[in-house]
Amino acid sequence: MKQFTVTALESGYGGQHIVKGVTLRVEQGEIVAVIGPNGAGKSTLLNTIAGLLPPRSGSVRLNGRDITGIDPEKTLAAGLAYVPQVGNIFPTLTVYETLQVCYVRRDFRTALAEVLQLFPRLGARMRTCAGLLSGGERQMLAIARALINKPFDLLMMDEPSAALSVDNVRAIFDRISWIRENGISVLLVEQNANKALEICDRAYVMESGQISIEDAGSSLLGSDVVRQRYLGVRV
Ligand SMILES: Nc1ncnc2c1ncn2[C@@H]1O[C@H](COP(=O)(O)OP(=O)(O)OP(=O)(O)O)[C@@H](O)[C@H]1O
Ligand SMILES: [Mg+2]
Repeated sequence: MKQFTVTALESGYGGQHIVKGVTLRVEQGEIVAVIGPNGAGKSTLLNTIAGLLPPRSGSVRLNGRDITGIDPEKTLAAGLAYVPQVGNIFPTLTVYETLQVCYVRRDFRTALAEVLQLFPRLGARMRTCAGLLSGGERQMLAIARALINKPFDLLMMDEPSAALSVDNVRAIFDRISWIRENGISVLLVEQNANKALEICDRAYVMESGQISIEDAGSSLLGSDVVRQRYLGVRV
């Protein structure tokens, strides 16, 4: 059984203590969402898990292996793919070059055909420099870049729907469900709480660096507190 667990994780920047003892888990094949207000520490949490920021204490385990404070270059080999909030794409590389440079396994052509099936839009832009793509196209490229290295066990995505049109938001969420159907677990941070709660199995609400609520996505969608605070519903 593949499982991802974060236990009592703490991190921050200099004197700022941001992630304050976060514990969460993602079971095999689950989509788990983390929602919460701006500045709650969601991106800091994911960056700490991915080794981009050193943890101050706590642990991260993937498939029984301790990956706490992992070298960010080794996350993929450990089975963890990460799409950060601001897709840090190289603006001067073309779409094709971006995907090729990030590909670390054999048979690039087959892998490329697979991701282009997922994002046909990118197929038409292969020779375009990433810096000239639209916001939505860039986001698709950031996701494609993570997916091209399949197989991995857990995909962490930070605000995948940001900067996308309504159609593209729908497409991205369809694809997140498709990713799960292909046996990959997903940890998703989203401002679009409604959408995230609709597609996830379970969700955590993060506030001021701590998990304040954990429940099934469907239960949170029906919760008065969550509806009022995060879904803009007056109750
Ligand atoms: N590189 C950094 N250096 C110093 N402080 C930072 C840095 N990145 C984020 N912070 C601070 O840490 C806090 C949490 O930020 P973080 O980006 O984790 O929040 P978030 O929950 O992802 O918010 P959002 O929903 O707006 O993306 C904020 O107060 C932010 O100003
Ligand atoms: Mg963020």
